[in-house]
Formats: sequence, C-alpha cells, structure tokens
Amino acid sequence: MLVDTHCHILPGIDDGSPNIATSTRMLEMERELGIEKIMLTPHFYLSEEKTIDHFLEKRAGAIEQFAPVAAQLGLEVKYGAEVLYTKSLADLDLTKLCIGDTGYMLIELPYQRLTSNFINEFRSFVGGLSPDIRLILAHAERYLNYTDEDSIYEIMDSDMIVQLNSGDFKMFYKHSKFMYDLLRRNLAHLLGTDCHNTTSRPPNIDVAEKAISKKISPRCFSKLNHNAEKVFEGRSL
Ligand SMILES: [Fe+2]
Repeated sequence: MLVDTHCHILPGIDDGSPNIATSTRMLEMERELGIEKIMLTPHFYLSEEKTIDHFLEKRAGAIEQFAPVAAQLGLEVKYGAEVLYTKSLADLDLTKLCIGDTGYMLIELPYQRLTSNFINEFRSFVGGLSPDIRLILAHAERYLNYTDEDSIYEIMDSDMIVQLNSGDFKMFYKHSKFMYDLLRRNLAHLLGTDCHNTTSRPPNIDVAEKAISKKISPRCFSKLNHNAEKVFEGRSL
C-alpha cells in the first residue's frame, strides 16, 4: 500500500485538475499504482487568496464534489495545501493549512536565488512557528534551477522534512545526483507525485519506485513510503 504526500487532484482550485472527470481519472491512476492514501495539497498563494478562510471556502467547494468519488474508490484522503512561502505567513494561523489533523504543513519556496538574507528570514519564520507545526519542504530538487545546492542544504537544516517528486527520478534528469545524495545521506524523507493532470504531469510513483529500487535499494523506497504513512497518521518520523 502506497501513500501520495503531494498532489493537485482537487478539481478546479489551482493549476491541477480542472474538473471532477479529470480528478476521477487521476484517482483511478493513483489506485492502479497501488496508492491508497492521498494528501491533497492545492496551491496556496497568499497574494492571490488574501486570507486563509477564503482559500478554505474555495477548497470546501472542491471537496464537496471530490470526497464521494475518493470514497467510492476506497481511497483515504486528507486535505491540506502547498503553501508558497512569503514573509507575511508569520502573521497567520497556519494550523488551518496543515494536512488534515496531522500538524504537518507542505511549504514551497519562491523560485529565486536563495540568498543568505532570505535564508536568515526563513529561519526566523521557522523559529517563530507554533511547536505543533512541522514543515515539509516540497520537491527540494526543483529549486536547483534557481539556486545552488548549499543554499538548499541550509534551508533543510532548519529541521525540515524533505519531499522529492517521484517523476524527477526519470532517466537523465539534470538534478538526479542531488536527489540520490539526499537519499543516501538520509536527508530526504518523503516522495510525492505532485501530479497535476493525466498527461504531462500524471501520477507516477512507479518512476521513483523503479529508479530508487535499482540505484539504491527496494528497502529505501519502502522506508520513504513508511515515512509517508507516519505523516498521514500525524506521527513523528
Ligand atoms: Fe505541487
């Protein structure tokens, strides 16, 4: 049984699934891959939403259509968000954006060079968070398009749980070395599909399963999934 920790399957809420028909197909695809538990993490951009309550109202509308389909397919789901970091998050009650009742919140960094000023600002944000919240850094490998490895390591140092995208384990991905280094050093903890649709960004946990089992070990893949189960249940890793 597998767990997806990051996806955009809720219909009509972000740049993920546009409608319930696509969401249904995506859920079927997840099911075919052996995924039985899913954390739904639509994008939360404070600059667009203005308030968390506005986002939650919108999300509730999507859940109304989505929940019966997920239940029919026998999937267990929890609702959260993929929260884009911005300084003003510090003024908000972020427990509302955590994944279900778990206390885990998925956070995405801005796509820019992560300067030492930014890193300091981020660290003080993390330091000021309620002790009930634990941050999961979304797809650590993707920031390498904008910044250097050291800056990502520094961000990870602030007690972050680190998630990697399963599709980025495809052959010849330019940041593979970084991803395998993290796994070998036990610095990456979770896999997520970050699926947005059924075509260009589909559910594809099998890509990671094959690559990690071959390059590291099947046990490493199982460990990542075991961590995801713990997160889903709100237990600590
Ligand atoms: Fe995402």
